[in-house]
Amino acid sequence: MKPVNIAELEPLARERISEDAWEYFVGGAEDEYSVAENLEAYRRIKLRPRVVADVPERDLSVTVLGQKLSLPLLLAPTSHQRMAHPDAEIATLRAAGAAGTIATLGTGNHFSVEEVRAAAPYPFWFQMYCYENRAVTERIIRRAEAAGAGALVLTVDATFPPRRERHIRRSFRLPPEVELRNLIGIGLQDHLLQPEHGGMQAFIATLRPFLLTWDEIDWMRSVTSTPILLKGVMTAEDALLAVEHGIDGVIVSNHGGRQIDGTLATIDALPEIAEAVAGRIAVLLDGGIRRGTDVLKALALGANAVLIGRPYVWGLSIDGEAGVRMVIEMFRDEIYSAMTQLGVADVKRISRSLVQR
Ligand SMILES: Cc1cc2nc3c(=O)[nH]c(=O)nc-3n(C[C@H](O)[C@H](O)[C@H](O)COP(=O)(O)O)c2cc1C
Repeated sequence: MKPVNIAELEPLARERISEDAWEYFVGGAEDEYSVAENLEAYRRIKLRPRVVADVPERDLSVTVLGQKLSLPLLLAPTSHQRMAHPDAEIATLRAAGAAGTIATLGTGNHFSVEEVRAAAPYPFWFQMYCYENRAVTERIIRRAEAAGAGALVLTVDATFPPRRERHIRRSFRLPPEVELRNLIGIGLQDHLLQPEHGGMQAFIATLRPFLLTWDEIDWMRSVTSTPILLKGVMTAEDALLAVEHGIDGVIVSNHGGRQIDGTLATIDALPEIAEAVAGRIAVLLDGGIRRGTDVLKALALGANAVLIGRPYVWGLSIDGEAGVRMVIEMFRDEIYSAMTQLGVADVKRISRSLVQR
């Protein structure tokens, strides 16, 4: 049967991929409270429809960091998409580009940023980390920029290996067909990144000895004029520091519940952050977005746009590029339908009065 919503994609994806891959994609840290909470929190936020409203047209477009998107939804970075589909990030960027939105490529991709861009000539952002060796970090920045990255997404919530017990229990290792091509030839110990050495463990180990500081973020700011977003900000305090340090935007995120368990749901962290930032820099959010109404709730509480992770990985698992496109179009249809029934003509003009918490 044809899936009619995002939730129905998960079991279909599971049938098509290995048990290891499914556990890798679905998993979160420890008791997975944050994974569940990201979803649950949307149910506690209620919509306030305006009826008999004059909405002859619905405008779903937004501009984020100067880049126009056809809908307020982007694709978050997810590692090891090759476990979902052989076309991996190439399929993902093609689907996003054709749909008029942006996919975030990432350090943990199978295909290098150059390979993806050559096969999918569409706007993209690039997710990265800071390494102890600044020369390594700078090489990554230059490669992403040369390939045309519209923004650098610095992940700030993954400086320590998470306790993902599903993965620990299975001694999860990357299958041999999954590579980390962005990390080859940039000054890391390449041989450790090969699958026979456990690939992902080595990938995580590349980050381990290094705890990120604001000094390092200042350095990164000083070596690039490409917009920088910090991904993984969960408090007003850190969002204000991001503003002070010349950062262009924050992504309110708990890494889909995959890093530290027991955080607030991202949608519950959003209001204090949006209030503190007060429009000075972009505020995006990810985690638990599964419905068009979730997107509108996030916009009402202060996000400029949202990102999805697992939903498009399920689409990719089911049908490659067409599957990712199907996911984006499901969201577009649901957003359109909800806007019409809520009396919202333009997603850019959604205000807090759309919701009650
Ligand atoms: C399989 C998988 C791999 C991910 N890999 C990364 C990564 O390498 N870097 C990163 O910053 N976030 C990564 N994330 C987190 C996502 O960017 C995003 O924050 C999260 O998936 C959003 O939650 P959602 O899956 O509920 O939509 C990953 C998420 C998943 C599900």
